[in-house]
Amino acid sequence: MSNQRTLRPTRFALPAVAIITAALVAGCGDQGKIDPELTASLIQPVARVELKVVTVAPGSRTGEQIVKSICAGCHDSGAVGAPKTGDAGEWAPRLALGYDALTASAIAGKGAMPPRGGGSDLTDTEVARAVAYLANLAGAGYTEPPVEQ
Ligand code: HEC
Repeated sequence: MSNQRTLRPTRFALPAVAIITAALVAGCGDQGKIDPELTASLIQPVARVELKVVTVAPGSRTGEQIVKSICAGCHDSGAVGAPKTGDAGEWAPRLALGYDALTASAIAGKGAMPPRGGGSDLTDTEVARAVAYLANLAGAGYTEPPVEQ
């Protein structure tokens, strides 16, 4: 007798757990039930941090910002044959081409360098700023086009 009594709750509990689990799983899979406002408020702190990092308005990035965030990826290490940042010897034959030609190469891409160094949303002027900044680190003395306020 006492054995049966102790078993009974288990008999009820198992199906109950299964039903609750099924309900929870079904709820998770139902995208329509996710409150978009709640979701937005939950991820807001993360989204805010991201915004601070990436929301420099296109067109207004300085050469330094662009070089550090995009061009340095290859040029700092000399990856895939890129002339190394600040290496006057490696840059000398490039500088001989002139600022306009270098800017045109950077916009169009050259060899293993993709167009705009991979920064597809860079404006032509931004690429020109980046080229000036990068080339100046190797002693070019170009004037970086100013950022309009
Ligand atoms: C994916 C790697 C990579 C990235 C990112 C990259 N470069 Fe390059 N860059 C190269 C390589 C490789 C070369 C050498 C190309 C050649 O001569 O074949 C090069 C060459 C250059 C040259 C010399 C062009 C010439 O005519 O000789 C300039 C200027 C230049 N890069 C500027 C930039 C700027 C500005 C950026 C960022 C907006 C940038 N690069 C990003 C790989 C890269």
